[in-house]
Amino acid sequence: MPADDFIVTPWHVEGDIDYDKLIKQFGTEKLSTQILDRIKKIAGEDHFMLRRGIFFSHRDMKQLLDEYEKGNKFFLYTGRGPSGHTHIGHLIPWVFAKWLQDKFGVNMYFQLTDDEKFFAKQNLTLEETNKFAHENALDFIALGFKPENTKIIINTQNIQTLYPIAAKVAKKINFSNTKAVFGFTNETNIGMIFYTSLQSAPCFLEDKPVLIPLGVDQDPHFRLTRDIAPKIGKIKPAIIHNIMIPALQGPGGKMSASEDSGTIFTTDSPEVVKKKINKYAFSGGQPDIEQHRKLGGDPDIDVSYQYLRIFFEPDDNKLKQIYDDYKSGKLLTGELKAILIEKINEFLKGHQERREKARGQLNKFLFENV
Ligand code: TRP
Repeated sequence: MPADDFIVTPWHVEGDIDYDKLIKQFGTEKLSTQILDRIKKIAGEDHFMLRRGIFFSHRDMKQLLDEYEKGNKFFLYTGRGPSGHTHIGHLIPWVFAKWLQDKFGVNMYFQLTDDEKFFAKQNLTLEETNKFAHENALDFIALGFKPENTKIIINTQNIQTLYPIAAKVAKKINFSNTKAVFGFTNETNIGMIFYTSLQSAPCFLEDKPVLIPLGVDQDPHFRLTRDIAPKIGKIKPAIIHNIMIPALQGPGGKMSASEDSGTIFTTDSPEVVKKKINKYAFSGGQPDIEQHRKLGGDPDIDVSYQYLRIFFEPDDNKLKQIYDDYKSGKLLTGELKAILIEKINEFLKGHQERREKARGQLNKFLFENV
């Protein structure tokens, strides 16, 4: 793979992603100042993930906001493939969706695709992916969603509801379409080939426009969904895309639920977080203190700094101070890591408590088949 090249698909992300190139490759639109201003106006405030370009691209946000301003509400939909415990990268679209839900006063659906991860991962049984679906649901609930306006769909448990919609979708997608989008071969199992229709189905649960906040790797499924929506008499889903959080080891690659060392899980203990950051987090610092003081570090490639920017330091002034101090050499790599470790552990302490409480609430969130 050439140095400036990268791969982004739902099942494989590799390389140092150039997001402007990806926008062209995927045919999406960059989030413009106009769209950002409109969101800000309706919400009554800004969100740091919008301001900092963590959400960077979209499809049909203009149409969605036009309709909203005419009084036509949308609903929110996102999901998670339960291949392991939740990691902090997964939380990006969920946290943002919670903010959108509060600001726009809309319903939310969260899909857990235990079937998908069973199809996609050689080493996982359906029992295991279903168990992880229930575990991942706790992380979602822990972010503060309310059962009154939020439902969790587990594919193998809600198939009765999903199937009639998926059937209508599946009839309009032929094998050469999915093959072109996902690169399927004759060896691909047929569960995978059908799967997109199940990820599409929640888009059509309500007779309203839908907005899907997601990691950009999931866009290809909805490119297919958008193509077929008019053919089944539905509105094309609108999408807002976030960047992939880098793996601890740094540029090239995203965090992965199946790669323990590069990943901070929401279930990690404070000691484990400290060890992982100190041992693995890719540093933009100089090889020794003397040079670092003289030349300064590079926050733009430093993974600890990036985690603060993407998720853990919402305060712009504090973030800028860290940026400037690291760049000038005043702040050392070890000190930067210590800031991040403290931030993560502080977040996880509250999150893990809410996560345990969520066990008792899960039933209220589960979608009931109609
Ligand atoms: N396929 C997604 C994953 O592997 C899970 C998912 C299902 C999803 N529905 C979604 C992600 C809607 C984003 C939006 O994580």
